[in-house]
Amino acid sequence: MSKVQVAPSILSADFARLGEEVAAIAEAGADYIHVDVMDGHFVPNLTIGPAVVKAIRSVTDLPFDVHLMISPIDAYIDAFVDAGADILTVHPEAGAHLHRTVQHIKSAEIKAGVALNPATPASAIEFILDQVDLILVMSVNPGFGGQKFISSQLRKIETVRQMIDQTGRDIRLEVDGGVTPETAPQAISAGADMLVAGSAVFKNGPQAYAANIAALRPKG
Ligand code: DX5
Ligand code: ZN
Repeated sequence: MSKVQVAPSILSADFARLGEEVAAIAEAGADYIHVDVMDGHFVPNLTIGPAVVKAIRSVTDLPFDVHLMISPIDAYIDAFVDAGADILTVHPEAGAHLHRTVQHIKSAEIKAGVALNPATPASAIEFILDQVDLILVMSVNPGFGGQKFISSQLRKIETVRQMIDQTGRDIRLEVDGGVTPETAPQAISAGADMLVAGSAVFKNGPQAYAANIAALRPKG
């Protein structure tokens, strides 16, 4: 397992000052910028599209980890590649042909991830694991920040960790939703090595961001 990395979700940022918020989390020690794209159809919320990703791309050199919660998915891949995504993560339920969608992402020479909703079994990734760079285990139902961590997902993280280790490939295991200083150690001991956190990072103002990020990392 690699060093644990933190990917703040800008869903919890102040959108009126989005560029400054991205700069502040980069300065505070974030490893990635996690961007939650929602379409009001695949998930019951609407957020941002490629134009906003493009607008904040110049603020930092940190990799953009773009989580696409949109369906159908394929028509939008190129727009997010062009906007500057470094990783595009998709849900198996968001398109008819996950393997084709992953190939599409990889043909753009960026990283591809697959996200598992809380009710989606780990077995959904069995025949795509040799193609992907990241598996995202959702520990809330996608759509909103600030929800409670669903503990049953810890067992899925353990299963996915075993599946990843058996491949011998360099695949990140990301957990997303309800990650706090209390739940992060559980996710890490289950095998996660990349933590998404929105509300736990963007709280108490920009002066607190460095401490908020540090509080999620393993101690000692
Ligand atoms: C949920 C998103 C998450 C979410 C995380 O659909 O994918 O990235 O914003 O927010 P918190 O950390 O507040 O649960
Ligand atoms: Zn997300």
